[in-house]
Amino acid sequence: MPNTLPTHVGIIMDGNGRWATQRGLPRIEGHKKGAEVLADTVRYAKARGIEYLTVYALSTENRSRPPEEVRGIMNLLRAYLKDVNNYRKENVRTRVLGERHSLDADLRIAIENVEKWSAGNDGINVNIALNYGGRDEIVHSAREAARKLLSGEIALQQIDKAMIASGMHTAGQPDVDLIIRTGGELRISNFMLWQSAYAEFVFLDEYWPDFGPGHFDSALEKFSARERRMGGI
Ligand code: FPP
Repeated sequence: MPNTLPTHVGIIMDGNGRWATQRGLPRIEGHKKGAEVLADTVRYAKARGIEYLTVYALSTENRSRPPEEVRGIMNLLRAYLKDVNNYRKENVRTRVLGERHSLDADLRIAIENVEKWSAGNDGINVNIALNYGGRDEIVHSAREAARKLLSGEIALQQIDKAMIASGMHTAGQPDVDLIIRTGGELRISNFMLWQSAYAEFVFLDEYWPDFGPGHFDSALEKFSARERRMGGI
Protein backbone atom coordinates (compact mmCIF):
# COMPACT_ATOMS: atom_id res chain seq x y z
CA MET A 1 0.00 0.00 0.00
CA PRO A 2 1.34 3.47 -0.85
CA ASN A 3 2.60 5.57 2.03
CA THR A 4 2.17 9.03 0.45
CA LEU A 5 -1.37 9.68 -0.63
CA PRO A 6 -2.27 12.56 -2.93
CA THR A 7 -4.65 15.00 -1.27
CA HIS A 8 -6.26 15.99 -4.57
CA VAL A 9 -6.73 13.62 -7.51
CA GLY A 10 -7.97 14.75 -10.93
CA ILE A 11 -9.30 12.33 -13.52
CA ILE A 12 -9.70 12.83 -17.28
CA MET A 13 -12.33 10.18 -18.00
CA ASP A 14 -11.47 9.49 -21.63
CA GLY A 15 -12.46 6.64 -23.94
CA ASN A 16 -16.22 6.30 -23.36
CA GLY A 17 -17.01 6.69 -27.04
CA ARG A 18 -14.42 4.14 -28.17
CA TRP A 19 -15.52 1.69 -25.48
CA ALA A 20 -19.09 1.83 -26.85
CA THR A 21 -18.09 1.75 -30.52
CA GLN A 22 -15.94 -1.32 -29.88
CA ARG A 23 -19.08 -3.08 -28.67
CA GLY A 24 -21.26 -1.86 -31.53
CA LEU A 25 -23.18 0.39 -29.13
CA PRO A 26 -24.14 4.07 -29.48
CA ARG A 27 -21.57 6.41 -27.88
CA ILE A 28 -24.01 7.45 -25.17
CA GLU A 29 -23.90 3.91 -23.78
CA GLY A 30 -20.21 4.48 -23.10
CA HIS A 31 -21.01 7.68 -21.20
CA LYS A 32 -23.73 5.84 -19.24
CA LYS A 33 -21.30 3.16 -18.18
CA GLY A 34 -18.79 5.95 -17.49
CA ALA A 35 -21.22 7.64 -15.09
CA GLU A 36 -21.63 4.35 -13.18
CA VAL A 37 -17.87 3.96 -12.97
CA LEU A 38 -17.65 7.56 -11.72
CA ALA A 39 -20.10 6.83 -8.86
CA ASP A 40 -18.07 3.73 -7.90
CA THR A 41 -14.81 5.69 -8.14
CA VAL A 42 -16.11 8.40 -5.78
CA ARG A 43 -16.94 5.71 -3.18
CA TYR A 44 -13.57 4.04 -3.66
CA ALA A 45 -11.61 7.30 -3.45
CA LYS A 46 -13.44 8.16 -0.24
CA ALA A 47 -12.66 4.72 1.21
CA ARG A 48 -8.99 5.21 0.31
CA GLY A 49 -8.89 8.53 2.17
CA ILE A 50 -8.61 10.87 -0.83
CA GLU A 51 -9.84 14.31 0.26
CA TYR A 52 -10.49 15.94 -3.13
CA LEU A 53 -11.48 14.36 -6.45
CA THR A 54 -12.00 16.44 -9.60
CA VAL A 55 -13.37 14.74 -12.71
CA TYR A 56 -13.58 16.12 -16.23
CA ALA A 57 -17.11 15.45 -17.45
CA LEU A 58 -17.39 17.95 -20.32
CA SER A 59 -14.96 20.54 -21.65
CA THR A 60 -16.01 23.80 -23.27
CA GLU A 61 -14.67 22.29 -26.53
CA ASN A 62 -16.83 19.14 -26.07
CA ARG A 63 -19.90 21.39 -26.38
CA SER A 64 -19.37 21.30 -30.15
CA ARG A 65 -20.17 17.56 -30.25
CA PRO A 66 -23.47 16.48 -31.81
CA PRO A 67 -26.30 18.01 -29.74
CA GLU A 68 -27.79 14.64 -28.82
CA GLU A 69 -24.48 13.51 -27.29
CA VAL A 70 -24.15 16.74 -25.28
CA ARG A 71 -27.79 16.42 -24.19
CA GLY A 72 -27.13 12.81 -23.20
CA ILE A 73 -24.19 13.80 -21.00
CA MET A 74 -26.26 16.60 -19.40
CA ASN A 75 -28.98 14.04 -18.65
CA LEU A 76 -26.41 11.78 -17.03
CA LEU A 77 -25.35 14.69 -14.84
CA ARG A 78 -29.01 15.27 -13.90
CA ALA A 79 -29.31 11.62 -12.87
CA TYR A 80 -25.98 11.74 -11.05
CA LEU A 81 -27.02 14.80 -9.03
CA LYS A 82 -30.32 13.12 -8.19
CA ASP A 83 -28.39 10.08 -6.95
CA VAL A 84 -26.10 12.27 -4.86
CA ASN A 85 -29.32 13.62 -3.37
CA ASN A 86 -30.59 10.10 -2.71
CA TYR A 87 -27.38 9.06 -0.99
CA ARG A 88 -27.02 11.93 1.41
CA LYS A 89 -25.63 9.58 4.04
CA GLU A 90 -22.51 9.05 1.91
CA ASN A 91 -21.14 12.36 3.23
CA VAL A 92 -19.84 13.63 -0.14
CA ARG A 93 -19.46 17.35 -0.76
CA THR A 94 -20.26 17.89 -4.43
CA ARG A 95 -19.42 20.97 -6.48
CA VAL A 96 -19.56 21.72 -10.19
CA LEU A 97 -16.72 23.66 -11.84
CA GLY A 98 -17.15 25.48 -15.12
CA GLU A 99 -19.32 28.02 -16.86
CA ARG A 100 -22.90 27.32 -15.84
CA HIS A 101 -24.83 30.32 -17.19
CA SER A 102 -25.48 28.58 -20.50
CA LEU A 103 -26.79 25.38 -18.87
CA ASP A 104 -30.51 24.59 -18.76
CA ALA A 105 -32.23 26.35 -15.85
CA ASP A 106 -33.33 23.10 -14.16
CA LEU A 107 -29.78 21.77 -14.23
CA ARG A 108 -28.41 25.01 -12.81
CA ILE A 109 -30.92 24.79 -9.97
CA ALA A 110 -30.09 21.11 -9.34
CA ILE A 111 -26.39 22.01 -9.17
CA GLU A 112 -27.02 24.91 -6.78
CA ASN A 113 -29.17 22.71 -4.55
CA VAL A 114 -26.65 19.89 -4.31
CA GLU A 115 -23.84 22.36 -3.64
CA LYS A 116 -25.91 24.00 -0.91
CA TRP A 117 -27.08 20.91 0.95
CA SER A 118 -23.78 19.05 0.65
CA ALA A 119 -21.68 22.03 1.84
CA GLY A 120 -21.35 20.60 5.36
CA ASN A 121 -20.22 17.13 4.20
CA ASP A 122 -16.64 16.21 4.85
CA GLY A 123 -16.20 12.58 3.68
CA ILE A 124 -14.71 13.61 0.33
CA ASN A 125 -14.90 16.71 -1.89
CA VAL A 126 -15.97 15.94 -5.45
CA ASN A 127 -15.69 18.54 -8.21
CA ILE A 128 -17.39 17.79 -11.51
CA ALA A 129 -15.83 19.87 -14.27
CA LEU A 130 -18.65 20.54 -16.69
CA ASN A 131 -18.61 23.05 -19.52
CA TYR A 132 -15.15 23.67 -18.11
CA GLY A 133 -11.99 25.06 -19.68
CA GLY A 134 -8.73 25.70 -17.85
CA ARG A 135 -7.88 28.76 -19.92
CA ASP A 136 -11.39 30.19 -19.45
CA GLU A 137 -10.93 29.82 -15.71
CA ILE A 138 -7.64 31.74 -15.78
CA VAL A 139 -9.20 34.50 -17.90
CA HIS A 140 -12.12 34.71 -15.48
CA SER A 141 -9.77 35.12 -12.53
CA ALA A 142 -7.58 37.69 -14.33
CA ARG A 143 -10.67 39.75 -15.19
CA GLU A 144 -11.80 39.65 -11.58
CA ALA A 145 -8.40 40.97 -10.47
CA ALA A 146 -8.50 43.65 -13.18
CA ARG A 147 -11.98 44.69 -12.08
CA LYS A 148 -10.76 45.15 -8.49
CA LEU A 149 -7.75 47.11 -9.72
CA LEU A 150 -9.83 49.42 -11.89
CA SER A 151 -12.31 50.08 -9.10
CA GLY A 152 -9.43 51.04 -6.80
CA GLU A 153 -10.18 48.16 -4.42
CA ILE A 154 -6.60 46.87 -4.74
CA ALA A 155 -3.16 48.07 -5.88
CA LEU A 156 -1.24 46.44 -8.75
CA GLN A 157 1.23 44.79 -6.31
CA GLN A 158 -1.62 42.94 -4.66
CA ILE A 159 -2.23 40.88 -7.79
CA ASP A 160 -0.24 37.78 -6.93
CA LYS A 161 -0.50 33.99 -7.22
CA ALA A 162 -2.75 33.76 -4.16
CA MET A 163 -5.19 36.29 -5.63
CA ILE A 164 -5.30 34.57 -9.03
CA ALA A 165 -5.84 31.20 -7.26
CA SER A 166 -8.70 32.70 -5.26
CA GLY A 167 -10.46 33.61 -8.52
CA MET A 168 -10.44 29.99 -9.76
CA HIS A 169 -13.49 27.73 -9.50
CA THR A 170 -11.39 25.69 -7.04
CA ALA A 171 -10.84 28.65 -4.69
CA GLY A 172 -9.87 27.46 -1.23
CA GLN A 173 -9.00 23.94 -2.40
CA PRO A 174 -5.49 22.48 -2.60
CA ASP A 175 -3.77 22.17 -5.99
CA VAL A 176 -4.21 18.86 -7.77
CA ASP A 177 -1.41 16.41 -6.86
CA LEU A 178 -2.13 13.54 -9.25
CA ILE A 179 -3.91 13.53 -12.60
CA ILE A 180 -5.02 10.20 -14.05
CA ARG A 181 -6.01 10.08 -17.71
CA THR A 182 -7.59 6.98 -19.22
CA GLY A 183 -8.04 6.23 -22.91
CA GLY A 184 -4.43 6.19 -24.11
CA GLU A 185 -3.96 9.89 -25.00
CA LEU A 186 -1.02 11.77 -23.47
CA ARG A 187 -2.43 15.29 -23.13
CA ILE A 188 -3.87 17.69 -20.54
CA SER A 189 -6.71 18.94 -22.82
CA ASN A 190 -7.28 22.25 -21.00
CA PHE A 191 -7.90 20.54 -17.62
CA MET A 192 -6.88 22.36 -14.41
CA LEU A 193 -4.05 24.27 -16.09
CA TRP A 194 -3.40 26.55 -13.14
CA GLN A 195 -3.86 23.93 -10.43
CA SER A 196 -1.67 21.26 -12.08
CA ALA A 197 1.61 23.24 -11.97
CA TYR A 198 3.29 20.50 -9.89
CA ALA A 199 0.94 17.58 -10.52
CA GLU A 200 2.17 14.08 -11.26
CA PHE A 201 0.57 12.31 -14.22
CA VAL A 202 -0.48 8.71 -14.72
CA PHE A 203 -1.70 7.76 -18.20
CA LEU A 204 -3.64 4.55 -18.74
CA ASP A 205 -4.51 2.81 -22.00
CA GLU A 206 -7.78 1.45 -20.57
CA TYR A 207 -11.00 3.21 -21.53
CA TRP A 208 -12.80 4.97 -18.68
CA PRO A 209 -15.72 2.45 -18.51
CA ASP A 210 -13.12 -0.26 -17.73
CA PHE A 211 -11.49 1.72 -14.92
CA GLY A 212 -11.66 0.09 -11.49
CA PRO A 213 -10.15 -0.01 -7.99
CA GLY A 214 -7.08 -1.90 -9.28
CA HIS A 215 -6.24 0.96 -11.66
CA PHE A 216 -6.82 3.51 -8.93
CA ASP A 217 -4.54 1.64 -6.52
CA SER A 218 -1.82 1.28 -9.11
CA ALA A 219 -1.95 5.04 -9.88
CA LEU A 220 -1.68 5.79 -6.15
CA GLU A 221 1.30 3.48 -5.88
CA LYS A 222 3.03 5.19 -8.81
CA PHE A 223 2.36 8.54 -7.18
CA SER A 224 3.86 7.48 -3.87
CA ALA A 225 6.97 6.10 -5.62
CA ARG A 226 7.71 9.45 -7.28
CA GLU A 227 9.89 12.03 -5.71
CA ARG A 228 8.19 15.42 -5.83
CA ARG A 229 10.81 18.12 -5.60
CA MET A 230 8.44 20.95 -6.56
CA GLY A 231 11.25 22.77 -8.35
CA GLY A 232 13.77 22.17 -5.56
CA ILE A 233 16.73 19.78 -5.71
C1 FPP B 1 -14.50 11.42 -22.90
O1 FPP B 1 -14.69 10.26 -23.67
C2 FPP B 1 -15.62 11.53 -22.00
C3 FPP B 1 -16.52 12.54 -22.03
C4 FPP B 1 -16.44 13.68 -22.98
C5 FPP B 1 -17.66 12.54 -21.12
C6 FPP B 1 -17.37 12.02 -19.74
C7 FPP B 1 -18.66 11.78 -19.13
C8 FPP B 1 -18.94 10.78 -18.26
C9 FPP B 1 -17.94 9.86 -17.68
C10 FPP B 1 -20.32 10.53 -17.84
C11 FPP B 1 -20.98 11.78 -17.37
C12 FPP B 1 -21.15 11.75 -15.96
C13 FPP B 1 -21.55 12.83 -15.28
C14 FPP B 1 -21.91 12.69 -13.88
C15 FPP B 1 -21.67 14.13 -15.95
P1 FPP B 1 -14.88 10.42 -25.23
O2 FPP B 1 -16.34 10.48 -25.51
O3 FPP B 1 -14.08 11.57 -25.73
O4 FPP B 1 -14.33 9.05 -25.71
P2 FPP B 1 -13.56 8.79 -27.08
O5 FPP B 1 -12.24 9.52 -26.96
O6 FPP B 1 -13.40 7.32 -27.04
O7 FPP B 1 -14.44 9.29 -28.18
